[in-house]
Amino acid sequence: MSSPAPAVPKRLEGKVAIITGGASGIGESTARLFWANGAKVIIADIQDNLGNTICEQLGGENIAYVHCDVTDEEEVRNLVDFAVDKYGKLDIMYNNAGIMDPKTTSILTIEKSDLERVLRVNLVGSFLGTKHAARVMVPARKGCILFTGSSTASIACMNEHAYVASKRGIVGLAQNVTAELGQFGIRVNCVSPYAVATNFVKGALPDHDSEGFEKFMSQVGNLKGAVLKTDDVARAALYLASDDANYVSGLNLLVDGGFSIANPSVALAMTQQH
Ligand SMILES: NC(=O)c1ccc[n+]([C@@H]2O[C@H](COP(=O)([O-])OP(=O)(O)OC[C@H]3O[C@@H](n4cnc5c(N)ncnc54)[C@H](O)[C@@H]3O)[C@@H](O)[C@H]2O)c1
Repeated sequence: MSSPAPAVPKRLEGKVAIITGGASGIGESTARLFWANGAKVIIADIQDNLGNTICEQLGGENIAYVHCDVTDEEEVRNLVDFAVDKYGKLDIMYNNAGIMDPKTTSILTIEKSDLERVLRVNLVGSFLGTKHAARVMVPARKGCILFTGSSTASIACMNEHAYVASKRGIVGLAQNVTAELGQFGIRVNCVSPYAVATNFVKGALPDHDSEGFEKFMSQVGNLKGAVLKTDDVARAALYLASDDANYVSGLNLLVDGGFSIANPSVALAMTQQH
């Protein structure tokens, strides 16, 4: 008789995590994965129906939803206080909520208000989440702060200026905060994905459905034969949040199949000439 399969270790057993933008896409996959790994997870979002539905599906005491607009400091303060009141501490703060601005592509036409809207959610929202997480993590002398950056912050891509500015800002903020919070035992890291078919990118390629989007992005990506899914990003976040990354801080972990360091244009042009 074969022995039963060994139980899969729960890599976040007993940890308390907040995930902003956790009601959909990458945040939702991460919330489900952290929860499955034993974490007590608080989904923070503005899409109340989606957030509450995930809680109902998972059930039990280890999942909660809090309405929180990350651009509003009072709401972010209340979110962090909710975690401490309900679960007694905050171990992981994942600043993941973000928006894109598909309608403005050129620096010639972008409006100041478009830039400000994207910066407010992506950068100011991440800043506020970090500030209030640090408020409770510093006295605890431990903690883990994560951000969702983007592979677009590691290249120059001709469009999405507001978005790229916000994501470069996030990587810079993450590194600066790494330097300040190391003395308190707090690790700070970024996960920077290549394109994933979520609600977020709807409209980026108007003629494509999710499958068409994935196919297109896979074709123009560097790592052939693979399609980036939200679960791939969630697993990178799980690694950084877990004790497996105990001494990892200040990292911008690119989940992009090498896209941001590969530039095949010269080699391609040369093969086309022969
Ligand atoms: N999808 C991609 O191709 C891709 C690539 C690189 C980085 N990212 C980043 O991943 C993160 C998650 O995006 P996604 O792709 O899962 O998209 P998504 O739209 O599925 O998820 C984003 C979530 O953020 C929430 N949100 C937006 N504004 C908010 C606010 N003011 N306060 C609180 N929550 C708010 C939304 O309601 C949504 O649930 C974003 O930071 C995005 O920039 C996405």
